[in-house]
Amino acid sequence: MATPQRIATGTPSLLMRLGEARARTDALFELLSPNSFYDRPIRERHRLIFYLGHLEAFDWNLLSPALELVSSDAAFDRLFAFGIDPVGGGLPTDKPSDWPHIAQVEFYNRRVRQDLDEALEGIEIDRRAKNGHTYETLLHVAIEHRLMHAETLVYLLHNLATGKLQRPQLVQGDVKPAPKRRRIAIPRGFATLGRQRSRAGGFGWDNEFGEQRIPVPEFSIDEFPVTNADFLRFLRAGGYEERKYWKAEDWEWKEKERITQPHLWLLKQDSPRLAGESNWMQRTMFGTTPLPESWPAYVSHAEATAYATWAGVKLPTEAQWHRAAYGSPDGSEREYPWGFAPPDPSKGNFHFERWDPCPVDAHPEGASSFGVQDLLGNGWEWTSTVFGPLPGFEPFSFYRRYSADFFDGKHFVMKGGSARTDASMLRRSFRNWFQPHYPHVYATLRCVEN
Ligand SMILES: [Fe+2]
Repeated sequence: MATPQRIATGTPSLLMRLGEARARTDALFELLSPNSFYDRPIRERHRLIFYLGHLEAFDWNLLSPALELVSSDAAFDRLFAFGIDPVGGGLPTDKPSDWPHIAQVEFYNRRVRQDLDEALEGIEIDRRAKNGHTYETLLHVAIEHRLMHAETLVYLLHNLATGKLQRPQLVQGDVKPAPKRRRIAIPRGFATLGRQRSRAGGFGWDNEFGEQRIPVPEFSIDEFPVTNADFLRFLRAGGYEERKYWKAEDWEWKEKERITQPHLWLLKQDSPRLAGESNWMQRTMFGTTPLPESWPAYVSHAEATAYATWAGVKLPTEAQWHRAAYGSPDGSEREYPWGFAPPDPSKGNFHFERWDPCPVDAHPEGASSFGVQDLLGNGWEWTSTVFGPLPGFEPFSFYRRYSADFFDGKHFVMKGGSARTDASMLRRSFRNWFQPHYPHVYATLRCVEN
């Protein structure tokens, strides 16, 4: 596996990175048996066949106008243009027969790659395309869009019925006990969200721009994310049965969906629900394992909020998370929690090193200057901040919907990254978001006391 490097720019390296990103997503489709392509493992998402065509159609729709290329299959360009994210109903109803054959999609993909690669060969990245953006920006968008799908595709594959995935490896049970919980005091100071709009700063998505310096009063934060062992205490204390821990809309969702445990947890047959760890299993990417106590608990925002309420604490705001991760006692701010060195595997569980989580205390070298651990990788972390624009927000003219469609008050900011997050998206200004009732994200939480 490639060691994450500082992100290089320049046409050859960007084209090389596009090639690497393609190899990542190709490898995921190779895990699928042909009869799985028309499955819909998550009911709010498209069938898998859509994603096979989507990555190429996205690149084509983004780059072909700039390169003044003529489409050979406008119908596929449209069919595979956009994913879906219904919030609160409106689930898709299409049938497998509504979609083209795998071979047709693969043919389309090959042709798109060939046409784009020929046109991109030797292009000057500083040159502005007709839409006013440089080729450098457009290529970054294509690469990161694909790499984001390299993560979210894994959420989909993780939900396929057992036996539908070829198994490249099996995870051994992780028997390390969960670390002792400790809360770390963070003195008052400032957190800098976002980034300035300057060429030198490199690529960022629309929602990362505008820099915002926010004063943060003193607070304390968990040293580690909430583990499976912690979350099991909530479950055993009746957390899923007590309405008082849940926001009204979260309770309603949980009742309607009959959710009684984290999405990837399984109860061993005939085991009593409220007994100890030994009765629970976790569904890993390619199998199951006795519930690893020391792994971060992957839960929805609704469950994370209920847990925090039960524990008498709160989820951090985006600014608090930044302060704990990047701030320091002398008031300066770092590029990464551990300092300024680019990400490498000693700092956290990210960049496709593993398919599954690892113990929350496995990467002390990735700790922030305050000693907060496991901040980047091993699971995104929920915040209490509703996803919104930073000051001076401007959407990309060629992708106006990327963030703006989600400024609806119904999505929450996540920070950090998972085992399946590319190192390029561990940059400080990167923001992820999801709605509170989507349990498929590799997302955990840590709590704060104000
Ligand atoms: Fe997409």
